[in-house]
Amino acid sequence: MNIKKIAGALGAQVSGFDLRQPPSETLAAQLRAAFLEHGVIFLPGQPLLPQQFLQFARAFGTPVEYPFVKGIDEYPEIIEVKKLEHERVNFGGIWHSDTTYLAEPPMGTMLLSKVVPPYGGDTIFSNQVLAYESLSPTMQHLLEDLQGISSSAKADVSKTREDRIRSDGSKEAAKEHVSKHPVVRTHPETGAKALYVNIAHTIGIDGLTDAESKPLLDFLFEHQVKPEFTCRWSWEVDCIAFWDNRSVQHNPVNDYHGFRRVMQRITLQGTRPY
Ligand code: SIN
Repeated sequence: MNIKKIAGALGAQVSGFDLRQPPSETLAAQLRAAFLEHGVIFLPGQPLLPQQFLQFARAFGTPVEYPFVKGIDEYPEIIEVKKLEHERVNFGGIWHSDTTYLAEPPMGTMLLSKVVPPYGGDTIFSNQVLAYESLSPTMQHLLEDLQGISSSAKADVSKTREDRIRSDGSKEAAKEHVSKHPVVRTHPETGAKALYVNIAHTIGIDGLTDAESKPLLDFLFEHQVKPEFTCRWSWEVDCIAFWDNRSVQHNPVNDYHGFRRVMQRITLQGTRPY
């Protein structure tokens, strides 16, 4: 297996295997170790059918359904993240960790690229362990016992789902989900502390007024995506990205109007953050 870091903060390209066969226990363990070490791993050259993609995902956890968009035919756990030629808004086009408004948000997400634009459409990732560790000890202490409130209904992110809800919306698409999670979470596998608020879903801090929480959240939203915490991935067809939602945020760049971009996405069941 070859592992090549793509940036100082996080992200590695991993190659040297064919995932059309289910991964052996050894390969799955090596990939899991790379995922935990690098936060996001990129596996190019994997032309998988939905059944093979699902089988690969199951080597790392339990695929779960996304609340707002239906899965593809026969595969409710695989949704299509797409932007069509005539659309202007990209799905999830804002910094976030996936579905933090759920009580048990997904531990990880996988994307498999099916159609990519001739240029643009990269995804940027940001390491929230580094973002936490670079805060002053006093700020770390201040954040320690705070709980952030996440909602699925913030206006900016809701707009990014509208096209897909129109084309593939689930029965529950209109429902608002709200959950409370620590502002700083401890990674259940590595023990590392990571910032766990995000501009797409976090609406406030428990026990603080909006006037009190807004400046603190605005500071954290800006701080947590500083360029030195990030890496950027430029897609080719048949590449899998697998990132750790417990320690990484992502943001797909919307700079390819007039072209189609289609990804298949699987999210893996997580546990309640602590
Ligand atoms: C997402 O938020 O799952 C979409 C990421 C992407 O399209 O790169």
